[in-house]
Amino acid sequence: MEFTVAITGASGSIYAQRTLLHMAASGVVERINLILSDSAKTVAKVELGVDLIDADRSAINRWIGLPSESRLIHLHRLDNIAARPSSGSHPQEGMVIVPCSMGTLGAIASGAGTNLIHRAADVTLKEGRRLVLVPRETPYNAIHLENMLRLSHAGAHIIPASPGFYHRPKSIEALVDHFVFRVLDHLGVPHSRSTQWQGLKEDAGALVATED
Ligand SMILES: Cc1cc2nc3c(=O)[nH]c(=O)nc-3n(C[C@H](O)[C@H](O)[C@H](O)COP(=O)(O)O)c2cc1C
Repeated sequence: MEFTVAITGASGSIYAQRTLLHMAASGVVERINLILSDSAKTVAKVELGVDLIDADRSAINRWIGLPSESRLIHLHRLDNIAARPSSGSHPQEGMVIVPCSMGTLGAIASGAGTNLIHRAADVTLKEGRRLVLVPRETPYNAIHLENMLRLSHAGAHIIPASPGFYHRPKSIEALVDHFVFRVLDHLGVPHSRSTQWQGLKEDAGALVATED
């Protein structure tokens, strides 16, 4: 499987990091075309203390926790609108933008994109492939909501960065991973934990979560 992963300047760099890690761990993803916006690098510095400004593949591998010699990730410059993900004639399974800023969301929704992330998302939609967007902002204004609706109508999967708590996460990683597994479900990428809700069972009159 081949995917494009884009990281933009919304809060939640850790979602991108864990998405890349779990895609790598899936064993079925053979190539990831990775694109970072400039703001994504600023936010990663603020949130995770990581400097991705001039990052090459081995720096990205280190950030994600992959072996430095791993060739899974192919990094593309934001201004390289001739890169592989820019053409629909290149077959791949789909694309995820995680996290997705309101700026990038608006550019894609308007069809007036200006960089490789916008172009790759546009191509993914026009080719009828899976486009998963993980928007993050709070609160949403009417423009954000209308843009999301527009993209949903166009076939995008809108999965807001709204993690659940019903699995009682013990750490931020567990919280993030549970959410990331839902993203991978929508991309069709297998992962290590079942996120299927098993239902509540009655136990001595009380409702308790069924074990996976
Ligand atoms: C620390 C930090 C956090 C931000 N969080 C968000 C956010 O959650 N959602 C959002 O839409 N923009 C957020 N922004 C603003 C975007 O980074 C900004 O609008 C940027 O122009 C988006 O560009 P991009 O879509 O090319 O990444 C944040 C900026 C910074 C510096």
